[in-house]
Amino acid sequence: MPSGSQRSDMARHLWLIGMMGSGKSSIGAPLAERLDMGFVDTDAALEIQTGMAISAIFSEHGEPWFREEESRMLTRLAEGDEPHVVATGGGVVLGAANRAAMRNSGLVIWLFADLATLIGRVGLAEGRPLIGRANPVASMDQLLVERYDMYADAADAQVSTIDREIADVMAEVEQLWQSK
Ligand code: S3P
Repeated sequence: MPSGSQRSDMARHLWLIGMMGSGKSSIGAPLAERLDMGFVDTDAALEIQTGMAISAIFSEHGEPWFREEESRMLTRLAEGDEPHVVATGGGVVLGAANRAAMRNSGLVIWLFADLATLIGRVGLAEGRPLIGRANPVASMDQLLVERYDMYADAADAQVSTIDREIADVMAEVEQLWQSK
């Protein structure tokens, strides 16, 4: 995780990465407003683009198709000149090209939470196709373990969202952005 200051000349976008339930959308929208930047939630944008819920995209087209569309959207955003706060889907870091595109176009903040917190927020995982209903804790744990190094590879900084108010997390992310 290099320091954000090494990337100041190219940091147009503020990328929020992290697991489902880490707080990307909850923090991203008000933060964008505060920073007077555009806001994109890539899942919501994909749902609008396809006219389908994420769970329907997974069941009808499959995960590889979803990942391709997700990467296409991410590349478009990364290459755009207008600065955005982007709340990404939890699996965006699976693609090495996605990680590079984010790193090369902005400041990447990894919103982090422990397993119990993530499960508490995601609940019964309605609309989260990768979290099995049979054993959501084990599914989430496995994803967390599999992805840990990828989040670390993509991120400039890690910010905990455990037991913290949204305003508090926002203030920390804003400080990182201002000092990038
Ligand atoms: C996914 C996370 C989801 C969504 C899709 C896959 C993942 O987004 O993109 O269900 O692979 O972790 P959120 O992280 O916004 O829940």
